[in-house]
Amino acid sequence: MTTLHVAGTTRNRAPRAVAQAATLGKVLTTPQVPLLLALSKRFVTPLYRATFLASAAGNGLLRWMAVRPCDLETLAIKLGVEGKEDKRRLRAWLEVGVRLGEFDKHEGCYRLKSRSAKLLARMKHDALAAALEEIMQTHVPVLLNAPQMLRAGQRFTMADQDGSVIARSTRVVEPLVEAAIDATLEREYPVRLLEIGCGSGTYVRYAASLNPRLTALAIDLQDEVARQAAKNIAEWGLTDRVEVRTGDLRTLQLEPQFDLVTMHNNIYYFAPAERVAILERARRLLAPGGKLLLTTSCKGGHVGLDLLNLWFEYADFGGPLPAADELVEQFTQAGFLDAQARRIVPGEQFRAFTGTNPHAPLS
Ligand SMILES: C[S@@+](CC[C@H](N)C(=O)[O-])C[C@H]1O[C@@H](n2cnc3c(N)ncnc32)[C@H](O)[C@@H]1O
Repeated sequence: MTTLHVAGTTRNRAPRAVAQAATLGKVLTTPQVPLLLALSKRFVTPLYRATFLASAAGNGLLRWMAVRPCDLETLAIKLGVEGKEDKRRLRAWLEVGVRLGEFDKHEGCYRLKSRSAKLLARMKHDALAAALEEIMQTHVPVLLNAPQMLRAGQRFTMADQDGSVIARSTRVVEPLVEAAIDATLEREYPVRLLEIGCGSGTYVRYAASLNPRLTALAIDLQDEVARQAAKNIAEWGLTDRVEVRTGDLRTLQLEPQFDLVTMHNNIYYFAPAERVAILERARRLLAPGGKLLLTTSCKGGHVGLDLLNLWFEYADFGGPLPAADELVEQFTQAGFLDAQARRIVPGEQFRAFTGTNPHAPLS
């Protein structure tokens, strides 16, 4: 390089550096920039992280990677991703996970990095992982699309819910439902239980563990949910005591033979105007003196429940979470004696409702 050339480039660089500094100053003093940085840190990145984790949990990656770090090829095989181009796309998605700090990469293998990823990977936190998926699949779309749905006259349908995810996510309230079963279930005598909307079947299993002479029929409206419940019941070694069927409470034809009918976390799948008739149907399946135990979150809880409410407001079935007094009144109108609501934990909006089928037929 000649002296003349060096002098020339130095002369050119100085004005360029000044111009760049001026541009930087202009960008940094633009009022949108601090706002953009704040939005990105406070909202956008956490949203990306939650979305990535929901997807990684839902597609099984967290579980696999908790066992051992996995390279791209292994993950592609497990996910059923084939072809060079799709594997490149999978890598791009995984690299975003690394960039977000959920995964890291060591010697070509992806590993769980963040504390959240490691916690959600554990089987004992499966309900939380499913709840995160449910939030992404239902809460985010209703928040995002509500006004536009109103303009277009659109409603969510049952097909917009992933029944299998919801059967797992509702288990976040398991200790509360189990406390309600503890307080209601007869232990001294054989019990014939009917569970309506059984989800995973976990509460039938719990009731069966409390009373070894309990037998049950568990029904769920959604075929894939009932099939998974039947699989779970078989895995838990309960097939000789528990039958699982796909069925709809609204059309169920059974003899009034049950000592206990249970409905956990599903009264909001029925519109308010339908609830007395639904409760009456449940009552007519009870033997004289039998009980209905219904557990549900009620109006006025945390913001997650407001979102559950909102989703059902925008669905073509179901309705809002009940108010406690209103549901007790509906039990009475449906012919139950001694209708009551009981809070499981002080200050919580989760309640157990019970009512007894009269011994003498109602006139
Ligand atoms: C939120 S999930 C709760 C599942 C389970 N009871 C639990 O608490 O984990 C509600 C369930 O009720 C079922 N369901 C809704 N309407 C029903 C109906 N008419 N008859 C039977 N099951 C119904 C749904 O298919 C869904 O699986």
